[in-house]
Amino acid sequence: MSTYSIDSKVALVTGAAQGIGFETARRLIEGGARVAVVDLDPQSTADATARLGGRAIGFAADVTDAAAMVEVVDDVVARFGRLDIVVANAGIANRPATVNAMDAAEFERVIDVNVHGVHRTVRAALPHVVANGGHVVVVASIYAFANGVLMAPYAMSKAAVEQFGRALRSELAQHGASATVAYFGFIDTAMTHDAFVDPVGLRLKGTFPRFLLKKLAPSSAGSAIVAGIRRRAPRVVAPRRWSILSVLRGVLNPSLDRRNERNAAVQAVLREADQARTPEAAVR
Ligand code: NAI
Repeated sequence: MSTYSIDSKVALVTGAAQGIGFETARRLIEGGARVAVVDLDPQSTADATARLGGRAIGFAADVTDAAAMVEVVDDVVARFGRLDIVVANAGIANRPATVNAMDAAEFERVIDVNVHGVHRTVRAALPHVVANGGHVVVVASIYAFANGVLMAPYAMSKAAVEQFGRALRSELAQHGASATVAYFGFIDTAMTHDAFVDPVGLRLKGTFPRFLLKKLAPSSAGSAIVAGIRRRAPRVVAPRRWSILSVLRGVLNPSLDRRNERNAAVQAVLREADQARTPEAAVR
């Protein structure tokens, strides 16, 4: 496997004001890169950039806004002189709900940010990544291959991100550039904090084996991404225990899917979730 030095490279990381994105930016800077920090809220983006020090610059932008992402990339190149690495990390999760009970606008916003946002981020950066033989990271999830019950738009978006990253990697090889798909299990960030206090989500998680729910620190996720860039790895999976399902998905998924249909505790949670149908979900 080839290796790639991040020293003196310029990276753009979306969703970098906190969580996995922030920790990725921190690790990139520790490795000698300069980093453009992109996130929605101007104040939290400025605060995160200040915490990262002089090798970071901040941009408040929405990844779903294609023109804004092109502007950010132009600005990064104007200020740093180049762009080598893009980490399309910004993402959101839906509140746990059945598709039948879910607000349609919430469903579509998840697809918009997690799929179109990733594409618009990468598309804006791609001419520079290609010219410099650089690297793309797309942040998927174990939900790319695990059953997405109560999380359908999120799982759907992450399966799409996985496909995007795999196709990109094949297409970038001709340019000496490459791509990594990052799959995370549960990482201790604001996103999982919200999901782990949701009562329906909690009841479903109560039916999972406990060892699968153990959360990893966001710094470990950031380190895994940067190690993946250095190795130009096709994929990074963290926590490692999820590699088993990643590798054996074709064999294990049919029986795991069947368990959701037949397990009484799972079905009780899904009935309850279905009855919590919102007025917005009723208006289609
Ligand atoms: P987080 O909620 O702590 O951070 C996400 C960041 O993305 C926030 O700062 C948010 O403001 C930003 N963001 C959201 N929408 C945006 C938009 N439209 N434009 C620009 N920025 C936007 O979440 P976390 O956990 O750090 O998630 C980062 C990525 O990792 C996401 O793609 C998530 O799906 C993925 N992931 C997270 C896992 C976890 O357990 N925390 C597990 C698997 C994947």
